[in-house]
Amino acid sequence: MASASIIWFLGCILILSLNLTPFVAAVPIVPGYYIFGDSLADSGNNNNLMTLAKANFHPYGIDYPGGPTGRFTNGRTYVDFIAEFLGFDHHMPPFSTANGDQILQGVNYASAGAGIRPETGKICGERFHIMAQLDHHRTTVSRIKQLKGNNDQATQEHLSKCIYTVGIGSNDYMNNYLVVPANPKDVVFTPDKWAEDLIGRYNTFLRGLYDLGARKIVLWGLGPIGCEPSQVKALRMAGKPGCVDMVNHIVSLYNNRFAPLVDELNKLPDAKFIFVNNTHISPGNNPASIGVKVGDRPCCTTVAVPGTCIRGMPPCPNRDEYSFFDSYHPTEKAVLPGAKRAFQAQEPQDVYPMDISRLAQL
Ligand SMILES: *[C@@H]1O[C@H](CO)[C@@H](O)[C@H](O)[C@H]1NC(C)=O
Repeated sequence: MASASIIWFLGCILILSLNLTPFVAAVPIVPGYYIFGDSLADSGNNNNLMTLAKANFHPYGIDYPGGPTGRFTNGRTYVDFIAEFLGFDHHMPPFSTANGDQILQGVNYASAGAGIRPETGKICGERFHIMAQLDHHRTTVSRIKQLKGNNDQATQEHLSKCIYTVGIGSNDYMNNYLVVPANPKDVVFTPDKWAEDLIGRYNTFLRGLYDLGARKIVLWGLGPIGCEPSQVKALRMAGKPGCVDMVNHIVSLYNNRFAPLVDELNKLPDAKFIFVNNTHISPGNNPASIGVKVGDRPCCTTVAVPGTCIRGMPPCPNRDEYSFFDSYHPTEKAVLPGAKRAFQAQEPQDVYPMDISRLAQL
């Protein structure tokens, strides 16, 4: 029982790897930016939920202006950087507090612990899974329509010019498929069938988002989860540095389905879906590639369960030398290079079929 719940908790939150540029006063290149996702993107939506998946306390936010907000890192998240690259002078407010006409410029719906499947993350407590996030966006859209004087055409024009990013699925692995061996669904689902099931549900969500007026939609694949501190700890302690290849392989079955999904969705009238090849732009087990020294251990002192930072405990002083802030979530330093490459590709495999800066200009 104890060990089963430990495993559950380990996956409650989650991760990836991504990196930037400070705020520059500029005119945004798109009117708004709407964000769907999990703890890698959450900016505070879980703060008032009954859940273990929370980060609104020190040392989280130690390098963020204003301190802890609910972000699962020391500083900015990848979506904060994308907001800056798009020219916004602020990061997108969580849906839980967004109000007034600020919603025209964007809202962040991401919720730690959330996944594509509705049961994902349940063990951690409350969270907004992907379809619940879509319901929140439906509320936003009706508020936007009011702000636009109930003018359907003006509302649609606004929504179609905005950028939408979606990064979800890590919890469906870390906090569901990979950690519930006793669950009968594992008998039913091979890794390939699991990936297919997730992508089928993702497709439904994306069509719902499209139906709510979104046209420029960025899909973030999953990073090399098998390289996270939570996964490599056992290997490291056995003196075998490296990633858990089996986990990376299982996740690749999900990631490999994105390019065909994008091709299919782009048949919808005026749709412009793109894919960010997160595995390709992440440092994996080569932290030196992003100028970081330590890639296999967290910067903060973590609770064994659920792998998040211990509340109030000082983190490592040299945060720029670490890829990971806690056992699952990258530091601001580690997240910036990938965010840059998603925005402005450096290699053809970084994005498919184009990067965010081009998408924004269409
Ligand atoms: C994503 O990156 C991987 C690893 O570098 C590569 O094998 C794959 O072809 C890339 N996918 C796309 C759609 O470019």
